[in-house]
Amino acid sequence: MNSNCPVNLHACMDLITKLSRQAGKLIKSRIDQEKSIETKANRIDFVTETDLEVEKMLIEGIKNTYPSHKFIGEESFAAGTREKLSSTPTWVIDPVDGTTNFVHGYPNVCISIGLVIDCEVQLGVIFNPILDMFFRAIKGEGAYLNDEPIRVSDSKCLSDSLVSVEYGSLRTDEFTGIVNHNISYLAKHAHGIRSGGSAAWNLAMVAKGASDLYVEMGIHAWDIAAGDIIVREAGGVVIDPAGCHFELMNRRILAASSQELANEISPKLKQYFPEHD
Ligand code: IPD
Repeated sequence: MNSNCPVNLHACMDLITKLSRQAGKLIKSRIDQEKSIETKANRIDFVTETDLEVEKMLIEGIKNTYPSHKFIGEESFAAGTREKLSSTPTWVIDPVDGTTNFVHGYPNVCISIGLVIDCEVQLGVIFNPILDMFFRAIKGEGAYLNDEPIRVSDSKCLSDSLVSVEYGSLRTDEFTGIVNHNISYLAKHAHGIRSGGSAAWNLAMVAKGASDLYVEMGIHAWDIAAGDIIVREAGGVVIDPAGCHFELMNRRILAASSQELANEISPKLKQYFPEHD
């Protein structure tokens, strides 16, 4: 056990591995079935009964073992629960990252769970139960996909890169103008552009070296907490898109295979600063 860490991270990882695998079975069994779908902030911000059930399953499962821990879950947040990051271990959970994919039966759907202590992610799991791809990392111990070590690519410039982007779930003129500007700049100079429809998936792809860069502004902490540590443990960098220090609650992320690539891109981006989580 890391002597500076108030919890046994391996025990935490064992627990969330077991819980994610159970929850993953539920997601997989539901993806091709008819769903009950509601909207939250706007007409493209979906929630299904599976998001709600999986979040409950994960939070209850963790609380049974760690009753004093705190939770920031996508669906609990939408229902009004607000927690601030502190020295108390806090689980940051997206039960179904890629809900729009799930609604359409598109297989990029991930459970994303990060454990944060003192504003720093200590461990993370991203599990795509449809494709059976289980990504995990504990601080200082490397990143793994289905128990095999993974590493970011060696790309150091945009002209050698495959880039992941998203349109996100906002459709104001200001926001779409900024996203269109950034995507067309990246598309013009990169090998290609991909949009996975799940921030966790995009980050997992950077961690395994299949994509070289991912940038999004307007994202939430639950979409990116696990991916933050998995990318860093795979040798990548995670920064704020403006080039400064990454803050989990600021709703902005740029993950890259190298500092050189991150430094090349951030000055070229138009910036969007959403309200913090
Ligand atoms: C969304 C996905 C999507 C990203 C959005 C997120 P959700 O999360 O990660 O890729 O572009 O910004 O809100 O709603 O499917 O959990």
